Amino acid sequence: MRMRLKKHLDERIENVSSILLHQEGDEFFTKSEEERHALLKLPQDIFGNNHPLYLELGCGKGTFAIQSAIANPDINYIALEKLSNVIVVGCEEALGYHLNNLRFLNIRAENTHYHLPPKCAQRIYLNFSCPFPKKTYANRRLTSKNFLSMYKVLLTDDGEIWQKTDNKDFFDFSKESLVENGFEVFDDMILPADYPGNIVTEYEAKFRELGKPIYCLKARIAK
Ligand SMILES: C[S@@+](CC[C@H](N)C(=O)[O-])C[C@H]1O[C@@H](n2cnc3c(N)ncnc32)[C@H](O)[C@@H]1O
Repeated sequence: MRMRLKKHLDERIENVSSILLHQEGDEFFTKSEEERHALLKLPQDIFGNNHPLYLELGCGKGTFAIQSAIANPDINYIALEKLSNVIVVGCEEALGYHLNNLRFLNIRAENTHYHLPPKCAQRIYLNFSCPFPKKTYANRRLTSKNFLSMYKVLLTDDGEIWQKTDNKDFFDFSKESLVENGFEVFDDMILPADYPGNIVTEYEAKFRELGKPIYCLKARIAK
């Protein structure tokens, strides 16, 4: 049964290869540093233009990235997600819209710098990233030190990080970590449901239905 499910997933992944830039399997860990860097692609080669690039890390089923790409045809989007059975759903839906400005990467966020060059991204979205427990797994949080160091490399000089979360502890951790690691938080609020231009993510819709406050911040590299 498991073999059949895997085969079915492999077929689905194959069918979305025009929009899925790379799928990182266990073989990634056997690659040398040089081989990992050889995976790098330039945004111009991917999209055929020099439009600004926005990344979403941990995109789930891609609702936010798809809606953003539809609303902003002059922005390029790359949405990445570590789970192949989840990202494939987004890829399948996106194909139906024939979007030239959206691609997906089935990779772990911590490896983004092997796939994309320095200073390529004007914005990084962290939408409802897993709030891993602070005591035991703080370094897995997408706003912990090592991730922020990587974002500094990926972002343009005026690039920004936009985070949304329902988890107050994670939000407070993020603000502290950003400032400790050379970022300036220039916006910090509870996001109203009808905030102009807000694109609601899959998890945001679930949390809003439960009546939970949604915390939102914007940060940039401190001058
Ligand atoms: C709570 S979901 C949020 C999905 C989506 N952003 C939303 O707002 O609806 C978090 C997603 O991040 C993914 N994720 C967690 N850690 C990751 C990592 N290190 N690299 C890539 N994806 C990751 C999970 O697999 C999951 O799909």
